[in-house]
Amino acid sequence: MSIHTQARKVTTQTLQEMKHAGEKITMLTAYDYSLAKLVDRSGVDIILVGDSAANVMAGHDTTVPITLDHMIYHAQCVQKAVDRALIVVDMPFGTYQGNSRTALDSAIRIMKEAAGHAVKLEGGSEVVESIERILTAGIPVMGHLGLTPQSIYKFGTYTVRAKEDEEAQKLITDAKLLEAAGCFAIVLEKIPSGLAKQVSESVEIPTIGIGAGGDCDGQVLVLHDMLGITTDFSPRFLRRYLNLEEQIEGAVKQFCEDVRAKDFPNQDESY
Ligand code: KIV
Repeated sequence: MSIHTQARKVTTQTLQEMKHAGEKITMLTAYDYSLAKLVDRSGVDIILVGDSAANVMAGHDTTVPITLDHMIYHAQCVQKAVDRALIVVDMPFGTYQGNSRTALDSAIRIMKEAAGHAVKLEGGSEVVESIERILTAGIPVMGHLGLTPQSIYKFGTYTVRAKEDEEAQKLITDAKLLEAAGCFAIVLEKIPSGLAKQVSESVEIPTIGIGAGGDCDGQVLVLHDMLGITTDFSPRFLRRYLNLEEQIEGAVKQFCEDVRAKDFPNQDESY
């Protein structure tokens, strides 16, 4: 039986074992109770309460504005729904950069108030002090390298990162640094697949890719993107498994028509 099937609760240890056994790890985002319940029941290994909630839940252009209170609220909703998956909560912009004490306080709030299982931080050497401090409190940390959306105003675009040798070398060094610091996994976002393969082979901890090719130890997508609820975002790496936009709009139009035609509610739907 696979490690995935055997695990009644996914832990950081389960993920490590999956990497060593060559079993791919699955991760999806969720931000609310109802969808988190469906995602967990469907057997995903990691549920990420991503700061992409800033985009898909709140309609912001970037992930920068979301606050720690917002993230804790989303994580609380998700936590109530999840029995099996490991819940990783993104630390929002401004809660860990530059001050490891603030980072620790923010991570502790996530663990205490939302009962998350782990936190995720964007960046390499720039944030390693914060990562180390959070780890001293026994809080598991997932790293995130490559395209780090919280730094959008530094990059200027959401295009593929680390195509040039210098940036690729820094990414490899950062991945090793995060592993040595004690991170249990690293997200690799939007980098060339050859580089992602090289990183995945040079660290013992699992890599989870998004737009980073098929050689990462696992894959992550934003749930609303893969379900086709958000359709204004269409990067090459995104596979849409449903077209819910069309189905939801169709259902809402039908409801309006039925009410206007005095067809809803009918006798059977009334008391
Ligand atoms: O916030 C998020 O959804 C993420 C994923 C894209 C990895 O960080």
